[in-house]
Amino acid sequence: MAKRATRTSTTTARKTKTTAASAGTSARRKAAAPRRKSSGLGLTSVTPALARLAKEMTSALAAAVAPGDAIALLKADHRKVEQLFKDFEAAERNVEKGKLAAQICLELRVHAKIEEELLYPPAHEEIEEDIVDEAIVEHAGAKNLIKQIEAMKPGEHLFDAKVKVLGEYIKHHVKEEENEMFPQLRQSGLDLAELGAQLKARKQDLLQQLSSKK
Ligand SMILES: [Fe+2]
Ligand SMILES: [Fe+2]
Repeated sequence: MAKRATRTSTTTARKTKTTAASAGTSARRKAAAPRRKSSGLGLTSVTPALARLAKEMTSALAAAVAPGDAIALLKADHRKVEQLFKDFEAAERNVEKGKLAAQICLELRVHAKIEEELLYPPAHEEIEEDIVDEAIVEHAGAKNLIKQIEAMKPGEHLFDAKVKVLGEYIKHHVKEEENEMFPQLRQSGLDLAELGAQLKARKQDLLQQLSSKK
């Protein structure tokens, strides 16, 4: 409760600061330029199956209807991964569970990477810092669990439990992004259309790097 109250007052303070800072200029600020290009997804190995999956995801991304902006693109990713978690819950055979878990992990790795590189740094400047800091910590926790799942085989003890807990963890994280971070970003001076184009291009770039490692 106390935390929420602090957030609200901080939001007001930051919003006042932002409004004051942007007074006198009608142009929406450009999204920050990408920071780096070299780092990959931190995968220890890229199997042919993973490379094939990346190729399929690249094709799906290219065929997708152009997103409205950064928030639309990220929300579409959230819905996609939610569905994959539901499919996992419904799956019965280990081979199916293995494929779904691999896709969930890859989708989340790519999504976390593009948010960390392109969204969180400018968001940290524009909105309540606490929201972005918590998101960064949540990503680190999720990536830890993803690494453990990737090192396991379906059917192994705790495999299903780890995927389920990852789903619950991501559900919480997505709720905070969509209910707290994104509304503040909409009110900020960031150019979300340009940021959306950068996010999509970086996602394509990461998936292509993986799919070429066959
Ligand atoms: Fe997200
Ligand atoms: Fe996130």
